[in-house]
Amino acid sequence: MGFTTKQVHAGVEPDPITGAILTPIYQSTTFVQNSVDEYLAKGYSYSRTANPTVRVLEKKLAILEGGADCTCYATGMAAIQAVLQACLSAGDHAIVSDVAYGGTYRLCTKIFRRFGVEFTFADTSNPDAVRAALRDNTKLVLTETPANPTLKLTDIAAISEITRERGIVHAVDNTFLTPYFQRPLELGANISIHSTTKYFDGHNATVGGAVIVDDKALDEKIRFVQNATGVIMSPWVAWLTLQGTKTLSIRLERQAANAQAIAEFLESHPKVAQVRYPGLESFPQHELAKRQASGFGAMLWFEVKGGVAAGKKLMDSVRLCTLAENLGSVETLITHPVTMTHADVEEAERKRVGIIDGLVRLSVGLEDPEDLIDDLRQALDKI
Ligand SMILES: Cc1ncc(COP(=O)(O)O)c(C=O)c1O
Repeated sequence: MGFTTKQVHAGVEPDPITGAILTPIYQSTTFVQNSVDEYLAKGYSYSRTANPTVRVLEKKLAILEGGADCTCYATGMAAIQAVLQACLSAGDHAIVSDVAYGGTYRLCTKIFRRFGVEFTFADTSNPDAVRAALRDNTKLVLTETPANPTLKLTDIAAISEITRERGIVHAVDNTFLTPYFQRPLELGANISIHSTTKYFDGHNATVGGAVIVDDKALDEKIRFVQNATGVIMSPWVAWLTLQGTKTLSIRLERQAANAQAIAEFLESHPKVAQVRYPGLESFPQHELAKRQASGFGAMLWFEVKGGVAAGKKLMDSVRLCTLAENLGSVETLITHPVTMTHADVEEAERKRVGIIDGLVRLSVGLEDPEDLIDDLRQALDKI
C-alpha cells in the first residue's frame, strides 16, 4: 500500500456504534470497567494512561514511519523530553547534534544537566566526530536532520551503524522531512521524533509531539514515561492532527516544489549573499540529501547582503510571507532565528554551529509560487 493511501486510512476504523467515518473525539477522563475481575476489558482506564482518539493517531504514525509503535505528547519538546527520560539516568552521557533545535539544546543544558546527565554537542554530520565523542557511559545519540535552522544533514545510516555496534540508542528528530520524505527507522535508527505541531498538523492549529520506535520493549519504556510524567496529547489535538495527517504527502509535494522554485529565485538575486536548500546543486550535502530522503522538504534559509539591518528590513517589508515562529504550515512563515527561535542559544554556540546573524529562515507554504516570489522580490527591492 502506498504512503498516501496509508496516511488516509491506516489506524482508522469507522466508529463501531454510529458508523462515523472520522474517529470520534473521546473526551472522557475515565472509562467504565465491566467488573472488578475484568478490569481494563476494553483497554482503557484513564486518559493520562491511554485515550482512544490519541491511540488512533499513535497507530497511524507508527505505520507511516514503519515502527513498532508510537506515543504522542503535548508538544514536540515533551516528546524529546520523554526520549531523554526513558534512555538516560544520572551519570549517563548523551551525544546530541550540535545543530539541534534551540529548545533541545536548552532542555539538555538547563534541565537534564541539573539531574546529573552529561552531554556532548557534536558535529553529527561527521561520523568520526560521533565516534570520538563516545564514552563508556554513552547511552544515546540524538540527531536532527535536516537541522533547524542550518539545514545541516546527518547521515542517519552511518550514525546508526556506530550506535548499533555499541548497543546504544539512536534517536532522530525527523520533524523537517516527516516519514513521507525520510524514514529514519528504515535507515537503522531506533527512534524517530516529531513535533507534530509542524507538518502533521500543517495548519497552525495545534502543538503536539510523537515518538515512533523500532521495538516494542523500547516503546513500553517510553510509554511508562508518558504516563508517569503526564505529558500527554489531548484527544482534541489528536483529532485535529489525524485530519491534518491525511493530506501530509500532498501538502509536502507542493510545499517542496514551491521551496525549490523560491530557492532558485533567491540564488539568482543580486541582493542575496547565500541560499541553503537541500534541493539546490550548490547545497554542500546535496548528494546525502538525495541518498537518504525522497524529497528535500520545504525549509530554506538565506542571507541578504547588508547584514542584520538588511535582513530586518526584508522581514518588515514582506506582505504575503508572515513573520511568525513555527514552520510546516500551509502559510509561508518567515523567521529570524537569532532573535526568535534560537534566542536562548548562547552567541558563541550559535556562531560555532553556523547560525549567522543575518540568517533568514523561510518555511514555505502552499500559496502559489509566483505570489511568494513576487512578495520576496518587492521586499528585496526595498533593501
Ligand atoms: C526540529 C524541531 N524539533 C522539535 C521542536 C519542538 O517542537 P514543539 O514546538 O512542538 O515543542 C521544534 C520546534 O520548532 C523543531 O523545529
